[in-house]
Amino acid sequence: MCPGSYDPVTNGHLDIIERAAGLFDEVVVAVLVNKSKKSLFTVDERLEMLREVTSQWPNVRIDSWHGLLVDYCREHHIGAIVKGLRAVSDFDYELQMAQMNQRLSGVETLFMSTNPLYSFLASSLVKEVATYGGDVSNLLPPKIEQRLLERLAEQS
Ligand code: PNS
Repeated sequence: MCPGSYDPVTNGHLDIIERAAGLFDEVVVAVLVNKSKKSLFTVDERLEMLREVTSQWPNVRIDSWHGLLVDYCREHHIGAIVKGLRAVSDFDYELQMAQMNQRLSGVETLFMSTNPLYSFLASSLVKEVATYGGDVSNLLPPKIEQRLLERLAEQS
């Protein structure tokens, strides 16, 4: 399970998904609602974008879930959550979630170190940079960048 908000998917996410797909028979990439974040794209839009940019990996499945991540994992017999760690700053919150999820369900969280090329990358930062006209072209697949720029233009 590679869970996230994916609002929108970035090259950093894709790096983790690709590496997870090389390690596991099947990888579910699930769009979950993060209540502490306001989203730019609807869940359906995020699913569509994820499907578009992961279609080259046959063992990757895209889904969404409104509820606890561990309930999805239990229902689908998923034993491992894979998360990317960019920097020490990610660690506190990720450890807290991993321990809570372990306590709630027994599902384990495995941390993968982010490719250093993407260690600064976050969807929230990409959205902010793009809002003010900064170049985000190497941070997202071209189709996703186009969708992002269109959405921001609609909103301005
Ligand atoms: O991409 P994000 O926003 O860092 O992903 C965080 C996410 C969506 C994976 C996390 O907020 C989550 O698992 N939400 C689902 C609800 C849940 O299970 N909350 C308890 C976490 S211990």
